[in-house]
Amino acid sequence: MLQPGKLVIASHNQGKVREIRALLEPFGIEPISAGDLDLPEPEETGRTFAENALLKAHASAKGSGLPALADDSGLCVAALGGRPGVYTADWAERATFEGEPGRDWYMAMGKVEGKLAELGSDVDRSAYFTCTLALVWPDGHEEVFEGRVNGSLTWPPRGKLGFGYDPVFIPDGHEQTFAELEPADKQAMSHRADAFKKLVAEIF
Ligand code: IMP
Repeated sequence: MLQPGKLVIASHNQGKVREIRALLEPFGIEPISAGDLDLPEPEETGRTFAENALLKAHASAKGSGLPALADDSGLCVAALGGRPGVYTADWAERATFEGEPGRDWYMAMGKVEGKLAELGSDVDRSAYFTCTLALVWPDGHEEVFEGRVNGSLTWPPRGKLGFGYDPVFIPDGHEQTFAELEPADKQAMSHRADAFKKLVAEIF
């Protein structure tokens, strides 16, 4: 059981933190992000979403002494055999001027589109976002929940809302991309919200 009070969002990704904060708001949970606590960002060495989510949640729970909620998510493209999948964030990695790694989401979306283009103009453009939430308590107890939203990829990118690959993802049954939909509308159908629904059913 999660008591009302403090919880660490084990993420340094502002887009994810914003969405998870909004999902937690109705439950009287006061979230703090791993970034606010200056907790280190562990290297994501897992080979599955669940392994990476657990790795991040355990690191934050240990570092803070508070329950921690981590999200590992990604975009799986059917025609690319499910890639980038667990490596979704890695496809955005590039060296910046200072030689520090930085993330460029437009480059990453272009990489996906480039690989689809190589497969021809009638390529299957279906894709899904998946989200694995791991909730870990300081005593090591852990719970994992998975969510998914199906859709298709469009090009060029459209919209300024959301984050990551949102400008190229159109959820099934809609015409706007996740980056064109209002945050509350994305939240009503997203992979993150789907996983969160399962967490709520189990934990609260
Ligand atoms: P990770 O979970 O930190 O490995 O990163 C997953 C990456 O998937 C994020 O950095 C985003 O680029 C992408 N991603 C996950 N969820 C979303 C979403 O809701 N919209 C757009 N991109 C997402």
